Amino acid sequence: RARPLNLNHKIVDLSSVEILPDSHAWTFEANKYNSSCRGNMSNLESIPIIDLNDENAKELIGLACKNWGVFHAINHNVPKNLIDEVELAGERLFSLPMHQKLLVERTPNSMSGYGVVRISSFFSKLMWSEGFTIVGSPLEHAAKLWPHDYHKFCDTIEEYQKEMKNLASRLMGLMLGSLGVTKDDVKWVGAKDEPKERGPALQLNSYPPCPDPNRAMGMAAHTDSTILNILHQSNTSGLQVFRGDNTGWTTVQPHPGALVILLGDLMHILSNGSYLNPLHRAFVNLTQHRLSMVYLHGPPSSVKISPLPQLVDHHNPPLYRPATWSEYLGIKAQYFDKALTTIRLRN
Ligand code: SIN
Ligand code: FE2
Repeated sequence: RARPLNLNHKIVDLSSVEILPDSHAWTFEANKYNSSCRGNMSNLESIPIIDLNDENAKELIGLACKNWGVFHAINHNVPKNLIDEVELAGERLFSLPMHQKLLVERTPNSMSGYGVVRISSFFSKLMWSEGFTIVGSPLEHAAKLWPHDYHKFCDTIEEYQKEMKNLASRLMGLMLGSLGVTKDDVKWVGAKDEPKERGPALQLNSYPPCPDPNRAMGMAAHTDSTILNILHQSNTSGLQVFRGDNTGWTTVQPHPGALVILLGDLMHILSNGSYLNPLHRAFVNLTQHRLSMVYLHGPPSSVKISPLPQLVDHHNPPLYRPATWSEYLGIKAQYFDKALTTIRLRN
């Protein structure tokens, strides 16, 4: 599987579907991309929970990034009531009637709006989910959805974007620190590390209850194309990460008050392969509605991302060739799970 299979996936109103339609019924084969959601539940290990205020946070994060590429962050300083408000705003949005959500449908050429999961084009089956992407200001879309009442939604989203940006910056400092590099060593990290051209990106995902969850897929397996993502899942499990062929899939159980930090492909490149960018997916369930909100943190678009020079020497040659984020997104849009392989310099 390399090139997009289907660019015409249309969003389906799942709220009233009582029998899983063939378009959404996945056949699970014994491979890591689509092995059954409940396949390997024997793995009881759980992802690390890291207190960002711990005096050893840097070292603990380094270990988690090497062994998992994902961890729970607690004491992240993002107010609980703000997280709750964003969740409510998301629920309010997804519970609108379909014709209203389609007012802000994502067009093939735009980054933001309502629609199917972006990676849908790589799969022949549809996922049991709907998404809303906000890039930069939410104003334009919110004003279309709620012409007389969009201020609260915008204020909440903007406040959350601000908090996420600060947290991403703090995490960058800790992660670079754990690699033995400071923020000052990397020119583009720091106060101006936000991609100004497009503003912060937030992805809201909604997974309605599903009549046949074992044959459905909420979000198919993928790695993230960012440096790191900060994910919040409602109090319903669904997120799974893949830990190599021996361990298989591990469910990331929601941890009260925690945010899930997922490393993306670009962090794997920056760390010259030592930090993992885990494959992950989301499954659905019979009775519970699940919502996840994901902040996507990437570099400014003019910066060429390559293994950090401090990590590279004669014995540790760079594993990947430099690429800007937008260049990498183009490669990913074409090669999907083979994207990193196409820019790899050595085997
Ligand atoms: C994602 O990978 O973007 C979302 C996964 C989830 O809903 O937990
Ligand atoms: Fe993801």
